Amino acid sequence: MNIAIDGPAGAGKSTVAQKVAGQLEYVYIDTGAMYRALAWAVHHHQLPINDESAVSELLQKNRIQLVRENGQQHVFWNEIDVTSWIRSTEVSQYASIVASYGSVREQMLVLQRRLATQGNVVMDGRDIGTHVLPDADVKIFLTASIQERAERRWKELLAKGTQTDLSELEKEIEERDRRDMQREVAPLRQAEDAVLVDTTGMTIDQVVDRILQICERTGEST
Ligand code: DC
Repeated sequence: MNIAIDGPAGAGKSTVAQKVAGQLEYVYIDTGAMYRALAWAVHHHQLPINDESAVSELLQKNRIQLVRENGQQHVFWNEIDVTSWIRSTEVSQYASIVASYGSVREQMLVLQRRLATQGNVVMDGRDIGTHVLPDADVKIFLTASIQERAERRWKELLAKGTQTDLSELEKEIEERDRRDMQREVAPLRQAEDAVLVDTTGMTIDQVVDRILQICERTGEST
């Protein structure tokens, strides 16, 4: 069984997807981390972010790998573990720009489908249910209010020792949502056969339980 989890920034997708995968003993695939790794490399090599062909060529000539180490997913750009650098505000904004490029998405699609051929994966992103795995057995669209998503991000950053401005974070999230939903190629949207789960006011464990119930129901009916 393959499970697709899509939704906007900060809806809790990666935390939830990772826990669901853990419970089911499935493989977790964080596709956002792949776009982020590319964004990190663009930034690191000081390539012009607006140059789609340069960005696309950079991806073509290098290798992104997702590796599980001590129960955590790590993302590698060639031999470099970039996991701890890809969550910065700058890389986040760059990621949503590189993700708007058709030639980048085409390459990512091939990589992501290849990762899912093993089966029993939980894959999260923006276009998994609509494009990458249209035949996924379970499709979830996770969302939450912008205020709650910004607050969660604020707490996450604070836990890492970074003090940020909450209203700035709200603006950043709104900007990313807009870019992710309005891009021409594979925009963020709920697949017709996806189940909407609004996580506003829910704990992580409640969300995980809800998804596991949905998976169980699907398992019973197939
Ligand atoms: O889920 P995330 O915040 O780590 O994703 C980073 C960026 O990548 C985000 O702006 C949306 C984009 N993305 C995408 O377009 N398609 C995916 N399948 C995953 C992420």
